[in-house]
Amino acid sequence: MTRSNFNDSPNTGKTKSSGIWGIILPLLLASLILGLTFLPTSLRDVSSVLVLAGRFHPLILHFPIVIIMLTAVFVVIGRYQPVFIHPLLVQGLLIMGCLTAFGAAFAGYFLFISENYTGDTVYNHLYGGILTGVGICLTTTYYFYQKQNTPHAAKNPVFVGLLLLTNGALAYTSHIGGSLTHGQDFLTEPLSRLFPGSEVPLKPREELLVYEDVIHTILDSKCLNCHNDNKTKGDLLMTTHDQLLKAGKSGKIALIPGNPLESELLVRVHLPVSDDERMPPEGKPGLSEEEIQLITYWIENGAEKELPIMQLLNDPTIAPTLQALLPKVQQAQQRLSLEKEAFEEVAADLEKLALKLSVQIEQDTEAEGSFFRLRMNFPPKRFSNAELLELEPYFPYFSSVSLASADVSDDELFFIAKMANLQKLFVQKTRIDGSGLPYFHTHQKLETLNISFTPLVPGNIFHLLDIPQLKEVYIFGTPVKLDIIEALQTYRPDITFHIEEGPLFQ
Ligand code: HEC
Repeated sequence: MTRSNFNDSPNTGKTKSSGIWGIILPLLLASLILGLTFLPTSLRDVSSVLVLAGRFHPLILHFPIVIIMLTAVFVVIGRYQPVFIHPLLVQGLLIMGCLTAFGAAFAGYFLFISENYTGDTVYNHLYGGILTGVGICLTTTYYFYQKQNTPHAAKNPVFVGLLLLTNGALAYTSHIGGSLTHGQDFLTEPLSRLFPGSEVPLKPREELLVYEDVIHTILDSKCLNCHNDNKTKGDLLMTTHDQLLKAGKSGKIALIPGNPLESELLVRVHLPVSDDERMPPEGKPGLSEEEIQLITYWIENGAEKELPIMQLLNDPTIAPTLQALLPKVQQAQQRLSLEKEAFEEVAADLEKLALKLSVQIEQDTEAEGSFFRLRMNFPPKRFSNAELLELEPYFPYFSSVSLASADVSDDELFFIAKMANLQKLFVQKTRIDGSGLPYFHTHQKLETLNISFTPLVPGNIFHLLDIPQLKEVYIFGTPVKLDIIEALQTYRPDITFHIEEGPLFQ
């Protein structure tokens, strides 16, 4: 009866369009299932565009969530307020729900295969997503099917049941999805792969290794300054994985796989700041809580060299820590690799300049960080402002300068004081009379100064008192009397005045 009424109604046009949707929707549904079954299983090297599409999953997924939930809310309210289940409204919402669920499912799938996710959580999320997509398509198909028979399809209990089940699947999927959240570079990283050249390209996440890309980077920024080939404090090298498995001076092995409590590396890190053996030593930036957690986890689980990051990202006990660390570590990795590149360029430039100016410039292995030291060839020549000006672009890279016996005067100190990272200056046996010492009054690094055998004017020696970080002064064979030096010593007990000629360079 209803049926004949319906057929007789002037709405036949709409009935036809409903019939079309009744065909299109099952087709959509089938293609979703077939699509997900026969899609490529890996996007590695396939297409940055699809990888990028995958990265939009976190954005797209909000549309089906809102639409599918809203449909359920409207259908429920519609029982009391029919305007909420006006067929056009329900129809529109359902179709949009299907299309956006489709979009989110495919984007999610691209993300899934391009990031090589593994683990139960991600599989549950994937199946939940497919279930939600299939659910909303079925619900919609059923709605259009019912709509042919009754104008109140939105009140049909099977339809309402399907819709609520779909919402259940949706809630489950979103909940699991929430625990799979991602780092900051999520959208920009594949963009930088599409438009390379702007910065050092980041490795895709699925290729990252726990040791090489994370732990080594952490050690590089916090420990390697003192534990490298040039400077091996405590006889411990930390530049490679193999070296970590050895003992330093103490005889205790730095890294014992499976045993974080006995691994000297962690033992030292956990010591109180006041302890002399604590690493890194007092005053140096220490490891953060997250960094310690990650290193501990890694050692506990065998400290494997080739362990991929994805494995940790799928372990809920460490994933949040790693997620929080990754963006910072990748930034540090970029900074370190840019610094290394810059350092190599500077080293090459300085090598040429050293030849041209006939001086020696080499890496300062004593300094913390990447610095150079400059000293004279023998026999020393005139070294004036003209030479210094040529070096000026590289001033920040000098930590130690020795102009001993060269033809230098206080004028040159003006430029030398511009070397902001200079820690050691050897100007013994030069023409310096001390009138240029005030140039160092704002210098924040100079610790060692050798002014032995200079025609130092006694009145100028007081300028030394205003060099803030000064710790060692070699002063011998100058016109300055011993009692003046002793007086200076009482003003600046933190400076040691050595009454000896002192080293030529260091
Ligand atoms: C400023 C320089 C400096 C930095 C930075 C530094 N260390 Fe050290 N480290 C030393 C010195 C000096 C020693 C030797 C003296 C001692 O044993 O305390 C040492 C010794 C060690 C030893 C013991 C070696 C042995 O067997 O005797 C370990 C392990 C160690 N460091 C780990 C670390 C770790 C891990 C970091 C980074 C978190 C770090 N160090 C950062 C200077 C440094």
